[in-house]
Amino acid sequence: MSKTLIKNIKTLYTSRQVPPVKGADMSKVYELNNAYILIEEDKIKEIGTLYTGNLIDTFIYDAKDLICIPGLIDSHTHLVFGGSREHEFSKKIAGVPYLDILKEGGGIHSTVKQTKAATSEVLYDQAKKSLDEMLLFGVTTLEAKSGYGLDLATEIKQLLTLKKLNELNPIDILITYLGAHALPPKYKDKRVEFINKVMLDLEYIKENDLAKYVDVFCEKGVFTALETEKIFKRALELGFKLRLHSDEIESIGGTGVAIKLKANTVDHLMAIKDEDITSLAKSNTIANLLPATSFFLNKEYAPARKLIDQGCAVSVSSDYNPGSTPSENYQFTLQLAGNKLRMVPYEILTAATINPAYGLDISNKVGSLEVGKQADILLLDALNLDYFIYHYGINHTRAVFKNGKLVVDNRTIIKEEI
Ligand code: NIG
Ligand code: FE
Repeated sequence: MSKTLIKNIKTLYTSRQVPPVKGADMSKVYELNNAYILIEEDKIKEIGTLYTGNLIDTFIYDAKDLICIPGLIDSHTHLVFGGSREHEFSKKIAGVPYLDILKEGGGIHSTVKQTKAATSEVLYDQAKKSLDEMLLFGVTTLEAKSGYGLDLATEIKQLLTLKKLNELNPIDILITYLGAHALPPKYKDKRVEFINKVMLDLEYIKENDLAKYVDVFCEKGVFTALETEKIFKRALELGFKLRLHSDEIESIGGTGVAIKLKANTVDHLMAIKDEDITSLAKSNTIANLLPATSFFLNKEYAPARKLIDQGCAVSVSSDYNPGSTPSENYQFTLQLAGNKLRMVPYEILTAATINPAYGLDISNKVGSLEVGKQADILLLDALNLDYFIYHYGINHTRAVFKNGKLVVDNRTIIKEEI
C-alpha cells in the first residue's frame, strides 16, 4: 500500500461546509497550523498536527513554510480550439466591442475556422500545453467545453480531444457540449433550423457519451432565452445536466430559464438583474463568476458582493478561451476575485474549491481536505491565505498532489557557470 506523509504544513485551509455553500457560510473556513496530511493510495487518510504512526514505506514531503489548500477547481474553460486571435487585439485596444467583432465575422467565428482547419493532433498538442500550464497554477479539476465547431463533425473532434486529454493527463476534465455558441453565417436566415440541428446533435453526443453537460451562449445577438429553453429542455430529456453563459453583456432572460430548469451553474452574470439574484439565492444553482473576462474585455465586474450578501452560492472560474480570456493563470482570476469582485480570501477559497466541485457534481470526492476524499492537494509558497490572494500575478505553487501522487514539484532555475 503506497503511503505519503505531507508534514510541517505551516497552515492548512479548507472549507468543511456542506455545499452549495451560500452567502455568509462562504467565509467559514477551517484552519490548522503545523499540520500533516497522511495519504494512502489516492485518498486522504488522516489530517492532524502530530503524526505518531509508523513511517515504513512512506514517502515524506516536507512542506516547511508552505501553506496547503485543496487542489483548485476551474469550472468554466474553453480549453480546446485551433489557432489564436491576437490579430483582433489592436481592434479591441481601439475600443471595438466584443459583440461587434463577432457580428463582423471575427471573434468566435474566426476560432471556428481555425478549429475546423486543425487536425486532432494539433488540437491535442495546443490544448495539452495549456493544460500543463493550468496544472502548474494548481488546477487539479477542470470543466471544458466544445463550441468552436458549430457543425457536428468538428464539435465531435473537440469533444474527443477533451476525452483524450482527460485520459492522458493528471487533471480531471468534465466535458460540456456547447453546440450553440454562435450562429454559423450560413444559418443567418435559418435560426430555427440551426436550433433543431443542435437538438438533434444532442442525441448523438448522448449516445456516444461525449459530454455530461450542455451549455448555450445566451446573449443579445447570439441566442435568445427562448432558444436556450428549447435546447435545454431537450438536453434534460436526454439526461444531460445544464450550465449557461448568461448576462455576460446584456440581461435577456437566460438566468431565469436556467434557474427554472435547475441548471448546475449560471456563468458570467456581469449584467444580472436584481430579481434574478433573489431567485438564484433560493436555488441550488451556482453563480459562476469569471472576473478575468471582465478584465480582458474591459467590462463591468459581476456583482459578487450583492450575490453573496443576498445568499447565493458563488464559484469563480477562469473562462480560459482565445477571445475574451487568453490566460491559463487561474491564480490571477482568484486575485481579481479579491481586488475587483471584492470577495474576501476565505470566500475565494470556497469559490475555487467546494462550490465548483458541487457545480460539477463531484463534491463528494473533491473540493475540500477531509478524510476519505481524493488526495488533490496544493502546497503554496505564501505566508497565509490572504497573502496568496494579495500578492498578485505570480505563481505561488510549490507542489501539486493529484490522486495522492506528486505531479508538480518546485519551479527551479538551472544555474549555469558564467
Ligand atoms: O465565455 N461568451 C462566449 N464564450 C466565451 C468567449 C469565446 C470566444 O470569444 O472565443 C466566453 O467569454
Ligand atoms: Fe465561456
